[in-house]
Amino acid sequence: MAFTKHVLFVFLTYWLVLQITTSFLEAAPEASLIKSLPGFNGTFPSKHYSGYVTLDTKPAKNLFYYFIESERNPTKDPVVLWLNGGPGCSSFDGFVYEHGPFNFEKGKNEGDLPILHLNPFSWSKVSNIIYLDSPSGVGFSYPKLETGDLQTANDTHAFLLKWFKLYPEFQPNQFYITGESYAGIYIPTLIDAIDKGKEVGVKPGINLKGYMIGNGVCDDYYDGDNAFVPFAHGMGLISESLYKEAYKICRGDFENKDRECQLIIRELYNVTSGLNIYNILEPCYHGNGNSVGAKNMTGLPASFRELGKTNKPLPVRNRMFGRAWPYRAPVRDGLVPTWAQLTDSLKRDRNSVVPCYNDEVATRYLTDKDVRKALHVSPEAEEWIICADPFRYYHNAGSMLPYHKNLTAKGYRTLIYSGDHDMCVPFTGSEAWTASLGLKIVDEWRSWESDSQIAGRQVLPEYKPSESLHFYDSWLQRNKI
Ligand SMILES: *[C@@H]1O[C@H](CO)[C@@H](O)[C@H](O)[C@H]1NC(C)=O
Ligand SMILES: *[C@@H]1O[C@H](CO)[C@@H](O)[C@H](O)[C@H]1NC(C)=O
Ligand SMILES: *[C@@H]1O[C@H](CO)[C@@H](O)[C@H](O)[C@H]1NC(C)=O
Ligand SMILES: *[C@@H]1O[C@H](CO)[C@@H](O)[C@H](O)[C@H]1NC(C)=O
Ligand SMILES: *[C@@H]1O[C@H](CO)[C@@H](O)[C@H](O)[C@H]1NC(C)=O
Repeated sequence: MAFTKHVLFVFLTYWLVLQITTSFLEAAPEASLIKSLPGFNGTFPSKHYSGYVTLDTKPAKNLFYYFIESERNPTKDPVVLWLNGGPGCSSFDGFVYEHGPFNFEKGKNEGDLPILHLNPFSWSKVSNIIYLDSPSGVGFSYPKLETGDLQTANDTHAFLLKWFKLYPEFQPNQFYITGESYAGIYIPTLIDAIDKGKEVGVKPGINLKGYMIGNGVCDDYYDGDNAFVPFAHGMGLISESLYKEAYKICRGDFENKDRECQLIIRELYNVTSGLNIYNILEPCYHGNGNSVGAKNMTGLPASFRELGKTNKPLPVRNRMFGRAWPYRAPVRDGLVPTWAQLTDSLKRDRNSVVPCYNDEVATRYLTDKDVRKALHVSPEAEEWIICADPFRYYHNAGSMLPYHKNLTAKGYRTLIYSGDHDMCVPFTGSEAWTASLGLKIVDEWRSWESDSQIAGRQVLPEYKPSESLHFYDSWLQRNKI
């Protein structure tokens, strides 16, 4: 009898395991599985899915996502949602140029499809990650509709509820939301929507643990000239005497609207114009593949120039359109200007442009008809463009400070990180607004290490991929960064 029991036990265990494994495998929508990708010759290190979640709105909104299972342990690793900013920029920006599973090598001849290599620093090494094109009208999501912060937060919440129904095996995993730039607005408003949903018990439950924002927009006062001027001064981009004069004239508040103050601020912008605002150490490129540095960077000490180098095995691109909010254009309440309008008005009024752009690798790849097919893109979706334009979008959620206050008080874990050479949303602003929250300091300001190197001078995941994977994983695993 004991023997039979044992066999039965083994059989039951086997059967259970089999059931669990099969249900694990079968739960994800098979039709969304990506079997191959043009330009990629290798084996997928984990499962990749892509497709749409259709919201029950009128008209229906079809939100496009690309989901990658963790290459380490999909069952245990957290699920992370990634959002690029804009508003209006596709999250394929992060996928192609920052921490996605592939490095895109430009085709040999003009017009050739890029070649895909596995990215050794992909964030899918340590997490399950969803790249979402949001709001509707961005990237492969459609149709294009007028929207704003609060509606977008609601829609993305609705997306997540449906997504977790499609992939129920991931419901127990810890869930985090992360992104850059204008996602500094998307994320707190979305967390708030999810949190409100939890309070009224919407199903399925989302195991939300926290959020991470890189060079994010937060608040007019802190992110505007009060961030830019101390940044330019601290980085040695403007002279001590000019800084002191500006400080005096503006009486310590560079957002001061007095004419005299505005004039000197204008001068400061003139002095710093031509730099690559997203990474002041990188050369600046101007349209048409014309890659002449506007400022000759040899004026900087050699150690500074070295910092701009990347350990990505393939060349990084020379543009960051949707990466960060263009500087001198603080996010104000109301209709957010389109990128075209911004570019024009910046040129006209501020002797400044949205520079350094060239997204040809992503554009060549994602507008290819075989790639669209392999990614399950609907024929109804418009041709892929990195930042949807024109796009009527309203900033109607105000400052993010009250959101951060409430959400951190509720126990959501938060990581606010900045590339210290980003002049667009400079770290000085993030440092000032986070300090304004008045939180208790549990770990004093210090440098952090990656590979036994001081890595605190981190730029962006694009420029420091291995360090960014390191801090990303440490933070998700609740280890000291
Ligand atoms: C694809 O793999 C085959 C066989 O390994 C190789 O001959 C070919 O050159 C590869 N193509 C590319 C584009 O890497
Ligand atoms: C968002 O959802 C909440 C709760 O369902 C609702 O009360 C609110 O009106 C919605 N807001 C928008 C802008 O759709
Ligand atoms: C900007 O600087 C240049 C010289 O570098 C000068 O000719 C020009 O007048 C300045 N413009 C403003 C608006 O200060
Ligand atoms: C930058 O300046 C150095 C030294 O003044 C010069 O040799 C070099 O040609 C300049 N490069 C460019 C691209 O102007
Ligand atoms: C923050 O919490 C306070 C107190 O509950 C509430 O009055 C306020 O509306 C909340 N603000 C946001 C943006 O959630």
